[in-house]
Amino acid sequence: MNLLSLYVALALASFSSAFWRMECHSPIGMARIDPMVDPGEVSDHAHTIHGAKNFNFDSKYDDLMASDCTSCRVTQDKSAYWTPPLNFMYPNGTTVAVPQVGGMLAYYLLYGDNVKAFPKGFVMLAGDKRQRNFTLPVPDPPKSNWGREDSTQSALAQKALGFNCLNYNKNPPEATLYRHFLPDKEYLDANCPDGLRLELMFPSCWNGEDTDSPNHKSHMAYPDQVMTGSCPDGFDTRVPSMLFETIWATDAFNGVDGQFVLANGDPTGYGYHGDFMMGWDEGLLQQAVNTCTNPSGRIEDCPLFDLQTEAEGAMCTMDMPKQLKKDDCAGPREGLCGNVPVQSGPAYASEISAGNTEVPPPPPSSATSSASIPVLTYSPGTNMPTDKYGGGVTVANVKPEPTAGGEFYPAAEPMAPSPSSSSLSSAESWAAPPPAPSPAPSQAPPEVQVENRPSFISTSIYTSNGAVYEIYIQQVDVTVTATATPISRVKRHVHHHAHEHHA
Ligand SMILES: *[C@@H]1O[C@H](CO)[C@@H](O)[C@H](O)[C@H]1NC(C)=O
Ligand SMILES: *[C@@H]1O[C@H](CO)[C@@H](O)[C@H](O)[C@H]1NC(C)=O
Repeated sequence: MNLLSLYVALALASFSSAFWRMECHSPIGMARIDPMVDPGEVSDHAHTIHGAKNFNFDSKYDDLMASDCTSCRVTQDKSAYWTPPLNFMYPNGTTVAVPQVGGMLAYYLLYGDNVKAFPKGFVMLAGDKRQRNFTLPVPDPPKSNWGREDSTQSALAQKALGFNCLNYNKNPPEATLYRHFLPDKEYLDANCPDGLRLELMFPSCWNGEDTDSPNHKSHMAYPDQVMTGSCPDGFDTRVPSMLFETIWATDAFNGVDGQFVLANGDPTGYGYHGDFMMGWDEGLLQQAVNTCTNPSGRIEDCPLFDLQTEAEGAMCTMDMPKQLKKDDCAGPREGLCGNVPVQSGPAYASEISAGNTEVPPPPPSSATSSASIPVLTYSPGTNMPTDKYGGGVTVANVKPEPTAGGEFYPAAEPMAPSPSSSSLSSAESWAAPPPAPSPAPSQAPPEVQVENRPSFISTSIYTSNGAVYEIYIQQVDVTVTATATPISRVKRHVHHHAHEHHA
């Protein structure tokens, strides 16, 4: 899959409170690094990392703050945001990273009263990389009916994960945090033509004292309705409610035999997790919390923020540490990056030790698929507390797929000034299906013709019924020839033909 391809996606989330949506359109890299959980050593599994350049095995607040760039659009935000990437594993064990679409959105939702900025040095972790089961009813009962067992911290943490099946013909789309597991391949093939959005809600109730804790979680707690509600005793300080969204082009593997697995060896999704390392000037962040309360969520609507373009953000990439030069987390490779074994549960997964820079033998040749993944069919996202804006914030963006070695092509740039605003239904029609994946090459992959590869002619933003739409308009009828050489170097030849057509 070192082949050049571009995808289009619309991400949807809507919130009934003040917030801003940090756009980090490009990862700074994909690497086995986790300065919180595995400080000073190679992490057991890979992460897709967004944000400040100076992300490394030992990064701390001051290091991030000293970064000379960030991949996020607000240049004062030197935070780091990381989650495990989604991978596709063929029946023979060959594994590739699923193309990530549009980078990451990190929502700073300002729920609750008297929201305090994250203090300098603040870090937190959400999710548990070893979790492989779900101990509560599926689907969630309505929040109004939640009993005590629905609101334990363990229950709230399990419900803080979302796997949103994207089908832009379904209106309204699925609600944020509706499904708490990775749907199986068959379900994805049949129902999610636009890929899968992974969502991760962080706890927003702070103990008011510690910027970290031994497990990076116990200084924080969830409010009793995951996103909203009241904070438990001892965790009375409300900080911004952080939600990560990443989109994965699972549809690129439609009809292909195999299974999806998170980089931490998790085919269930229950072990999805993410980390946040705060990289703001504390005073500025507090000012933003106090004043960037426009319910549009647009970073453009906050005058405090210095913005860079998506293309500028895409130029910011981390330096790959020399210990990881041989890693190829994007694949294709045998098994998962770091040779993390696939563990399907339902038992708590065994700990995989960090620090492994050797290349151990490949995993067993066929991955076991997980036994008891429930099915949760489409349900319109109407009764969510987040739906006040009836459709909410829509983002469309396009990102090239990572090359091997954790480097990424710069994001495509708009090619012309914005034309008039357009309707969402047109946006949907622009979402050309990605090309069918060709078999993952083990030696030199074949030259591949990708028909109808989208390219931008413009981007535009408009507001309708309180929803903000960011629309990328593409030109169709473009033919691209991508030539990839294996492992570490990807060369491309792009030929544009027939440029006169518009969507
Ligand atoms: C479910 O996961 C928990 C860990 O969170 C574990 O203690 C429990 O044994 C698991 N249940 C089963 C049936 O394996
Ligand atoms: C595994 O299967 C995939 C898909 O058929 C193929 O592209 C790849 O080359 C195979 N890997 C090996 C090591 O044979």
